[in-house]
Amino acid sequence: MPKKETITSLQQAKGQRKLTMITAYDALFASLFAESADMILVGDSLNMSFKGAPDTLSVTLDQMIYHTQAVCNGAPDTFVICDMPFGSINTKEEALANAVKVFQETNADAIKIEGGCNRAELIKHLTDNAIAVMGHIGLLPQSVRSEGGYKVKGRDEESFEQVLEDAKAVEEAGAFALVIEGVTPNLGAMVTEVVNIPVIGIGAGNATDGQVLVWSDMLGFFEAFKPKFVKRYLEGAKLVKEAVKNYAQEVQNGAFPAEEHTYK
Ligand code: KIV
Repeated sequence: MPKKETITSLQQAKGQRKLTMITAYDALFASLFAESADMILVGDSLNMSFKGAPDTLSVTLDQMIYHTQAVCNGAPDTFVICDMPFGSINTKEEALANAVKVFQETNADAIKIEGGCNRAELIKHLTDNAIAVMGHIGLLPQSVRSEGGYKVKGRDEESFEQVLEDAKAVEEAGAFALVIEGVTPNLGAMVTEVVNIPVIGIGAGNATDGQVLVWSDMLGFFEAFKPKFVKRYLEGAKLVKEAVKNYAQEVQNGAFPAEEHTYK
């Protein structure tokens, strides 16, 4: 089991080694991912892949706390980040109260906040009060309804410049690292160059300081669609369906339970 990362070791990794982050929502998978991942993100994407909702917006803070507790139980020696859900950080006072709640009720090492310049003051308020914050810029899933879809950033000059400004503002506010999602690879590379904190990409090209993927995407459990940036390292859905089919057949034909599965 590798040594648990700290903010210092994560920041020292910049330019030295690439960082791997993966989402997890429960203790079992978290314990499996802990063997290889530097960080585990309890992402609000769980609202889609775990609960089956159409977007991330309806997950509550208490639900995020429940899943973060589970992940921390499964991966006590891994750096864990809890996503602050939509509606939980509307003001800096509310953000601090809710971040303190996450820190008091879970063993999370940090929280993650979507937004750039518009969140800089709020992030500063949190970091001034001993909350470790990971930023999240670029494509912001919590803005899917207000922006009318998932919009890749950096294809036009305005969004390119905005994301660069967002990165600088989030770093300046004291975030220890940031996620950059859904941007052109040249913007991913530029952001990685202009800030001194680790930049973890998802759909942001190969030049970032690390990568994050949603576990159910990269293990092939989520079949409905495959975003362009996802690589499936396992055909999980196919394997599970095959295994359960075999189980059902063996129950039906009496092959299971066999002698070795039966108490004497
Ligand atoms: O919720 C999530 O899983 C995320 C990742 C996509 C970075 O925020």
